[in-house]
Amino acid sequence: VSGIIGVFTSGGDCCGLNAAIRAVTLKATSSGKRVFGFRFGSDGLIRKDFVELTPDVVSHSIFSRGGSFLGCMSKGGPLVYENDQGQHIDTVELFANAYKDLGLESIIAIGGDGSFSIMQAMMNRYGINVVGIPKTIDNDLGEMDISIGFSSGVQRIVESIDALHMTGESHQRTFVVQVMGRDAGHLALAGGIASAADIILIPEIAYTPSIVAEKLKSIYTSGRKSAIVVVAESIRNSDGSTMMVKDTVNNRERYEGAAHYLSGWIEETLGIESRPVVLGHVQRGGVPTAFDRILASQMGVTAVELALQHKYGTVVVLKNNKISYLPIQDTIKSYNAVELDSIMVRVARGLNICLGDQY
Ligand code: F6P
Repeated sequence: VSGIIGVFTSGGDCCGLNAAIRAVTLKATSSGKRVFGFRFGSDGLIRKDFVELTPDVVSHSIFSRGGSFLGCMSKGGPLVYENDQGQHIDTVELFANAYKDLGLESIIAIGGDGSFSIMQAMMNRYGINVVGIPKTIDNDLGEMDISIGFSSGVQRIVESIDALHMTGESHQRTFVVQVMGRDAGHLALAGGIASAADIILIPEIAYTPSIVAEKLKSIYTSGRKSAIVVVAESIRNSDGSTMMVKDTVNNRERYEGAAHYLSGWIEETLGIESRPVVLGHVQRGGVPTAFDRILASQMGVTAVELALQHKYGTVVVLKNNKISYLPIQDTIKSYNAVELDSIMVRVARGLNICLGDQY
């Protein structure tokens, strides 16, 4: 056996990460490589905290679990590391030193744009050999159709809203369901379409309150006394301000309040009984869909193939329904927001789902 490939999962977790680690391990070990799995993302590389991954370690039981059995890390800026004394240090040099000390020949980073920026800097400054695998439930990475985790995130939304339809009809209530999606409406749009929502509000389309009110009124006057409103966490208030709160532990901002605001507004303005439901991190856990398991397996195997062919500085992508790869910088520099003429927007409109705008 010659050569060691490192692997870690970085950024927010999602379903399919374990399937990707498993695929990397099985393909690499059967190709004569050793695999070191770093704990808690790139942090584990800096700390040299790893477990040697063998086929036994990545048995089928991890396949059906969300999360990452290696752990994830999503704190701090992408190129800055906070040590135990709270000092900020240049991460890239620490990575490079650990990489050399451990004798790694390449690293496979399973992450989002933050992790890919670190990888890009490691490659540019220290010539480190990296291959990326994209994951994010938000599906907002540029230059690709879909990343690992999105399908399972949508599935969680659908399971939850199916349940809410039942209780909503029994009690003649509207539910305002807040879903994740940091600055992108893909989860809201796909989750709402797949669960027969009546109204879907996304950050890419500014909503007009009176249009939302008219849609709800028309549902109630038609005889149905319940409705489902799906709202992306990142929509803006009607005055354009965002619904952000400060996360005092990590010193970052996060979205909070969209469902509570809208639900209160529906009760006050329309006299319709309404309840806010914040799905939150439920969307990131649970059982990975078959689609995510297959996508993660395809990407894990392909990432090792790229590493074996020395095609470094690349990210595996599903693009135009085909697995291929792109230079890392292409995936970092472009952002994938919902396009207003996309099939998903057209489908929503075709199904008479109100998107909060005049159409
Ligand atoms: O980017 C993935 C995501 O789940 C977003 O949809 C959400 O805004 C954010 O992460 C939540 O982050 P955290 O887990 O740090 O609260």
